[in-house]
Amino acid sequence: MKRKACVIGWPIEHSRSPIIHTHWLGRHGIDGRYDKVAVKPEADALCHFLKTLRQNGYVGCNVTVPHKEAAFGLLDRADPSAKAVSAANTIWMEGDLICGANTDTYGFMAHLTVTVPDWKSALVGKDQTALVLGAGGAARAIVYGLIEAGISQIVLCNRTLERAQTVARDFGQHATIKTADWSTRQAEVVRAGLIINTTTMGMNDNGDLGLDLSAAPNDCVVADIVYVPLETGLLSAAKASGLRTVDGLGMLLHQAVPGFEKWFGIRPDVTDELRQIIIADLARAA
Ligand code: ATR
Repeated sequence: MKRKACVIGWPIEHSRSPIIHTHWLGRHGIDGRYDKVAVKPEADALCHFLKTLRQNGYVGCNVTVPHKEAAFGLLDRADPSAKAVSAANTIWMEGDLICGANTDTYGFMAHLTVTVPDWKSALVGKDQTALVLGAGGAARAIVYGLIEAGISQIVLCNRTLERAQTVARDFGQHATIKTADWSTRQAEVVRAGLIINTTTMGMNDNGDLGLDLSAAPNDCVVADIVYVPLETGLLSAAKASGLRTVDGLGMLLHQAVPGFEKWFGIRPDVTDELRQIIIADLARAA
């Protein structure tokens, strides 16, 4: 029987996950399918969908906005990444159990490591910090990944300070996490060996983080999780200052890998061919 997976969200039209998974299905000659399913924001719609996942012929699904946190609450078994982030984006069945993970952590860390293999050298053994801008779900996933990678000095800067303080409290036993007022973000750049934008600023060119990156250490790595545009204002400022950059598209591609492997049994590669397919689709949508 054809193995089927899908992505659920509301709205779901913009999701690129079907392009990614359908590409891999074709590459590996797997007789499978990956659908887009619109699931309304109400909790009972999500609950009904997940409880009938198997009945509807699905081996699993990806979960996107606005369901990631609610999906976590409906899991029978959550892996450590989902527990750390309190959100699930990848779901599969084990017997009758609904199981879930959060692969944003893997996606970000894998792309960072592929793009700048020695990124840690700007942090470990130096008095330099990882500066994380934002304190939403993406920031939680990335802070968890940094801590797992052994990074011990993290600065969290968010427009709403209380949200940064919550993240710092939740992860603070594993690393030194300092919270900083949004208005002081420029001052934090001077000591940053890694700067990561997890906010929506810069998406579709809506505003600028307003950072002067010429003040950053010259081995600093600058990452953005925004991928529309592919080169955000932050990344172009980093390049202009001669800093190494990591774009947001790679995180999107890499986060899809563990789900595909769970559902279809083969670990796929993130290739330049796939990247170009998504870039072409983004250009069509622009
Ligand atoms: P996600 O789960 O994808 O991380 P989110 O939880 O909505 O999404 O988080 C969005 C992040 O972008 C938050 O850190 C948000 O700041 P607040 O916590 O203060 O809302 C940040 N953000 C969004 N618009 C912003 C803006 N105009 N200026 C600064 N930060 C902004």
